[in-house]
Order: sequence, then structure tokens, then C-alpha cells
Amino acid sequence: MRLLTTILPVWIGLALAEDGSRGWLRYAPVRPTGHNTLDVPSTIVALNSTKISPVFTAGQELRNGISSILAKNVQVRADGCSNSSAVIVGTVDAYRAAYGDVKEAEALEDDGYLIHSTPDKVIILGCNERGALYGAFEYLSQIARNNVTSGVHVSNPQAPIRWTNEWDNMDGTIERGYGGASNFFRDGYVVDNVTRAAEYARLLASVGINGVVVNNVNANATLLSDRNVEGLGRLADAMRPYGVQLGVSLNFASPNATLGTFDPLDPKVDAWWANITNQIYKKVPDMAGFLVKANSEGQPGPLTYNRTLADGANMFARAVAPHGGVVMFRAFVYDNHITYANWTSDRANAQLEFFQHLDGKFDENVVVQIKYGPIDFQVREAPSPLFAALHNTSTAIELQVTPEYLGQNCHFVYLAPLWKEILDFDLRAESRPSKIKDIITGERFKRPLGGYAGVPGAGTNTTWLGSHMAMSNLYAYGKLAWDASLGSEDILQDWIRLTFGFDQKVLDTITDISMRSWPAYEGYSGNLGVQTLTDILYTHFGPNPASQDNNGWGQWLRAGNVTIGMDRTIENGTGNAGNYPPEIAEIFNDVDKTPDNLLLWFHHVPYTRRLKSNKTVIQHFYDAHYEGAASAQSFVKQWESLEGKIDKERYEHQLFRQTYQAGHSLVWRDSINEYFYNLSRIEDESNRVGNHPYRIEAESMDLDGYKSYVVNPFETASGFTAIVTTSNTTAGTATSKVPFESGTYDVAVNYYDLFNGTSTYTLDIGNRTVATWKGDNEKKLGHEPSRYLDGHTATRITFKGIKVSKGDTVRITGQPNGIEPAPIDYLSFLPPGIVD
Ligand code: GCU
Repeated sequence: MRLLTTILPVWIGLALAEDGSRGWLRYAPVRPTGHNTLDVPSTIVALNSTKISPVFTAGQELRNGISSILAKNVQVRADGCSNSSAVIVGTVDAYRAAYGDVKEAEALEDDGYLIHSTPDKVIILGCNERGALYGAFEYLSQIARNNVTSGVHVSNPQAPIRWTNEWDNMDGTIERGYGGASNFFRDGYVVDNVTRAAEYARLLASVGINGVVVNNVNANATLLSDRNVEGLGRLADAMRPYGVQLGVSLNFASPNATLGTFDPLDPKVDAWWANITNQIYKKVPDMAGFLVKANSEGQPGPLTYNRTLADGANMFARAVAPHGGVVMFRAFVYDNHITYANWTSDRANAQLEFFQHLDGKFDENVVVQIKYGPIDFQVREAPSPLFAALHNTSTAIELQVTPEYLGQNCHFVYLAPLWKEILDFDLRAESRPSKIKDIITGERFKRPLGGYAGVPGAGTNTTWLGSHMAMSNLYAYGKLAWDASLGSEDILQDWIRLTFGFDQKVLDTITDISMRSWPAYEGYSGNLGVQTLTDILYTHFGPNPASQDNNGWGQWLRAGNVTIGMDRTIENGTGNAGNYPPEIAEIFNDVDKTPDNLLLWFHHVPYTRRLKSNKTVIQHFYDAHYEGAASAQSFVKQWESLEGKIDKERYEHQLFRQTYQAGHSLVWRDSINEYFYNLSRIEDESNRVGNHPYRIEAESMDLDGYKSYVVNPFETASGFTAIVTTSNTTAGTATSKVPFESGTYDVAVNYYDLFNGTSTYTLDIGNRTVATWKGDNEKKLGHEPSRYLDGHTATRITFKGIKVSKGDTVRITGQPNGIEPAPIDYLSFLPPGIVD
């Protein structure tokens, strides 16, 4: 019987589908090569047998992990084995009580752990229970990577706050989430089944995350109903064995329905919050705290009553203080109705305007949570100057793991290099070293609190985030929150080994794709610090640069016919450069000193201005878009080279996404280049922009049951025009003669795949049907939907190696469905080696 229970996990490990649900905790079998891995003991002693204890969890995890990875018969005990071979896991205190002192434990801080590994004994000790579990996960990770280190290894987290902010709505949707529905809420209530919450907590704990705010910052007061507070208790119970504490986002106006006011200085309001807070703590005695988005994007806040943001934050701080909770108060406060005509208006100044004068006025258990840049998770931003401006206030950095503005997990972007650039940025506050990573840990300004808030958008999809590759971002987020000095590539390679195994080609290829992914995305989206150039008024997914200017949102490009960029200089512009400490201000305020990659963030310059690279701004745009899109094409080939080296399930899943990305990168490339060519009328020196010799425009074909359709934004259609069926029930055809020389071509069709409709297409060349496909991307991709022909729905499908004779008839038949009128933009006949 015992044999069965211990061998079972091995069998499960082999048989389970690679659907991503186990993330990087797959515990895949490893053939031990290292001496140390062979020596892993077969007895686990977990120094706490209470089931909700993270130490108990650590024992179970070690048993499951070791038996699965090393195919060993492993047993867990609660005591004993001081002299025989064992893995002992527990807190320092429990270990001391059972076995005596361990000198190295003196180096441990909150949540820290040590692993003392000798040939026959492994001691894993945590400063607290959670730390012991972290140590167990680290040890298992070493075994799974076949890289167990002997001797003593001590690790302490650099920051106390290492949370995720889940933007889950009560109705079960997830704001900016691309991996399915909420794991926590459905139809207005906390879900009945909290298994998935526990599985998520397990993943997060394995990378050192210690808190999860379960509901959206755009919070709903119904979270505080009796039924939901009870539900929060169940969620917290599910996560507690993993040492993950629950936090909640609050709607500032929650008391309004009962009291008719939410004035933070009204004693009635104060008492209301104290009462509801006490009720939550009854169900969740270890609640981490509250997260508050106030006076931002329509959310209520203290400014309604002419109270300061600190007055608002401190009201919550008073409520949680007796319970040891903290308040994460977001610095994402700005006016979204600022005046475009005013040259000195600047949303990027808002954080300082709203928070600098409040420095020192927040209660000690308040942490001001600051997005990495002054605007909103763009592909590149200057770091927020607020980090350097608050010396008497604890701060945390907010990072978006869900790439809202970076391809929504339908493009793959490994984000750790972007985050590292911000974390390593030295703001030189008071002319002293002031790296952002040292400010948010509390070290630089000697603050008691601080850390990280990551927004993952994890949903019910088995892949959690909607894409297997995107999980490297969640993994890296946890690792950096623990230790920001780790290298992006080192973190990545650990994740690759855990996720895909040991094949060197797999390691090299995924490393290369990942490390080139941010530059590629920046290349084909927004360059030189101009922001992502996506549609900021709609889905934040595809290209639409015009959406950024001429409105009150303040994500401006100030792109004209001759010049572009935000003038944030002190003398002539918005003064934003002067928000930085003097040594940094001097660089950003000077157009010649500002690095090229932030030039348009800080300066308004002619398209003809020469960069440090000696290219003009406009030529840089054109070249970067071609280079970025070329990288995206190469990622497909690289991924294809892994066929047979990765399980079919994950190989096919990612191949589909890389192929989609490659096609959509061309949409981005052409849209942005067309847009700026049309504004500036400056030719591409390489004559590529607007020149597409391999294309047949759909609107130039003979149309039957189809008509021309002028697309908006214009730049998101080749030749600004596409075709749509004249009826929404009857098929149309577009016919032409192949004008190209006879030969073998990759034939690409660019079309629009709208949300709410699955058109069917057939492509005939000569007398053969080359392909039939459906416009059903909305069922396969998880990005924000669009119902229009635009940069979000524009997509490409490619049929490789098609033999074609000059003069052949090429015909596309489109059967509309729902609101989707089988839209087609163009066909490309691509000779070998050409992409267009
Ligand atoms: C972005 C995002 C919103 C989100 C907001 C926030 O603007 O698009 O969905 O609510 O950030 O961080 O509060």
C-alpha cells in the first residue's frame, strides 16, 4: 500500500498532459548526473504536521517533488531522524527545539531560508514557516534543474512586500487578463470551488510571492457583502498553506450607500471602515491589507471632499493597523481631461503634483504604489521620478506582468529586461546612489516597508496567462521581487529548464527568442520613447497612433507634419524633466544628452533630427519597424526548429502564437510606417514604405458579392482599403490573374478577424483549392476583442510552397458570418526568403 502512494506521483508526473496547469512546477523526471542529486535522501521530516502550516505543505511538496523527479520512494515524517539520512524542513525555532542550534540561522531575516546540504542530510530552515516553504521550493528547483548545491545557502528577500494584484472583477471577468475567466469570482460572488486559488498560491509561493490582492483596483463595493466576506475567508484558507496572504482592493465610496457620504474625515465613515475591516479580519485573521485606487479614471476618492490623498489613505491605515495590515495606495492618480492645446499640460507630472507635497503625511503602514513610469506601462518609459521624491514615505513599484500594451500575450515579450532597466536605474536622489530597486526595498530612505506589486492577469485557462511562454514573466516577477540583482537571462534559463527540460537547443533557442523579444516588440511598435502607439481609446492592442493625440488622456505624441515628441524640458516644455533629481534632470532636459531611446519622451524634435546613431528620427522609425518585424518572422523559424524537442501540445500552442505574432508584426510595421510617412511625407531611404511589389490588393480584384471598404484608421489596410461582402449571409468572390512569374511562392492572405463572427474563406489558384480556413482567432487568442476592421483584427495566414503559373486565376471566396463580412485586405505572393 505504501508503495502505491509513494510511486503514484511518479506515474502522474509522466502521464499528465502538458497543458501548462503545473507551470514551472512540473517535477518532470530527471536522470541524475550530479553526485548531489543522486544523494537526495528518501525521508522527509517536516517539523509541523498541522495541515494549514506551510511547513506541512513543504513536506508534502518535497515528497511529491522528489518522488516525481527522481522516481524515489519517499516518506514524510513529523519528527525523528536526527542521525539518519533525511531532508529536515521547518522553522529555525522548531529545529532548535528538536535538534539544537544552527549557527547560520542567525543570518536569516523575515521570510528568509537556509539550505544546508550534506551528502546524507539536508536541512531546510525558514526564519518563519513561509520561509521554510520557500527553502523547500528552492531545493526542489535545484533538484529539478539537476543542480543541487552543497554546503550552506542562505537567502533573504530584499523586500517585505511581494504581492500580486489580480484585476479580477466580481462578474468573473479579468481586466486586462488574457488567460480566461477569474479564478476567484463568478456572477458577483466568490467562487465555490477554491482549488484553483490554492494551485495559484502554490505557483506564487514557489517564487516567493507572499500576498495576493484578489479583486480589481477598479473595485466594486459588493465585495464587502456578508456572502463575499465569507468567501474571502475561504480564498484565504485555500492560500494560507502556501504562506500567501490575501489582500483586497476597496472602492473608496463603499460607505456611501449606507451613510450617504464617504468623506474620510467624517467619524461615521471612519467607524464604518473600522467595522467592515474587523469583519474581514474575523474571516481572514492574517489579511495582508488593502489596495486603493482613488480619484483616478473615474474612481471615487477623498478629493471629492477636498481632503488629501493622505487623508484617504490614512483612514484605511487606521482600520488595518490594529490587525497588522498595510495599505497599498496607488500613485496612479491623474486628470484624464487635460488640455491638449496647452503645451505645458502633462499627465506625466501628475504623480508628483498629487503626491510630493504629501511626503511624510502618510501613516507608517501606508505604502505608495507607483507604476514604473509616469504614464501607463508603455513599451518604454522614463522611470517615475516619484520614487526619488518620497523620502519619508514607503513605496512599492507596480509592474504589469500581463502585457496590456505589449501584445496581450498574443505576442510574446519577455519582460524581465524592461523591469531590470527600471529597477537598476539610478535616480541620484540628493546626489547619492539611489537605484529604484534600493528605494522600494526601503533601504535607500530607511523605510520600514516597501516592495513589489505585479499585475499578472492569471485566469482559468490551463496556461494561467493564455500562453505558455508568458509564464516566464510571472516566474521572473517573483524572482526579481525576491532579489532584483538576479540577471534576466539567468532567471529565464532556470525557468526554461523547469518548464521545457534540459535539451541544449531548446535552452539556447528559447533564450534567444526571449531576450530579443522586447527589442523586437519595441521595434515594430513605438520607438525612441514615443510610447507603444497602440489604440489607447479602445483595446490597447493593435496600432493606432492617432488615438493618442488630441484628447484629454495625456498619452500624447504631439506628432505633426514636421515634428514629433513631448517637450518635457524645463525651459520650453512641461517641466517634467525637472521633476528628476538634478544630475538626472540635467540629462533628460538636454536634447543632446538624452539617450536616443527616450528622446521623444522628453523632446519635441523634427523628424529629420539626427540621432546619436546618425540616423534621422523618421528613418529610425522605418528601419526599426522593418527590423522588429523581421525578428518576429525569425522567431517562428526558431520555434519550428524545436519540433520534436518539446511535447506536441505546447509546441503547437506556441507555434500558433508565434505565427500570429509574425503576421501581426507586419500589420504593426506597415501601419506605423504608413502613418508617419503620410504625416511627414519623408521617403524611406530604402524605398520599402508604401512599396509592396508582391501584393495583390483585394480592392483591385474583380469583385462579385464583395465591395471596397475604406478602413479606419487608414493605415491599418494596405492601400487604405479592404473588401467586405455586400451581404452578411451570401458569399462573395474576389478574382484576379496572377501577375507574377511562374514559380513556388509562400502565399499570404491578410484579412480581418472580427469578434463575433466566424467567416469561412477558400483560396483557389489555377484550378486547385489551395486552402480553406475560418476567421476564428477570437476563439484561439485571448486579446481584447474588436468588432471593426482595424489594427486589432488585421491578421495574416500563410500557405507555404505553392506552385503558381503566371496568368493563373486566383480567387478568394469569403462566406460571411455574424457581424463578420469576410473582410480581406490583400494577398502576397512571396518568393523564397521574402517577407512582405
Ligand atoms: C490602465 C488600464 C486600466 C487600469 C488602469 C489602472 O489604464 O488600461 O484597465 O484600470 O491602468 O492601473 O488602474
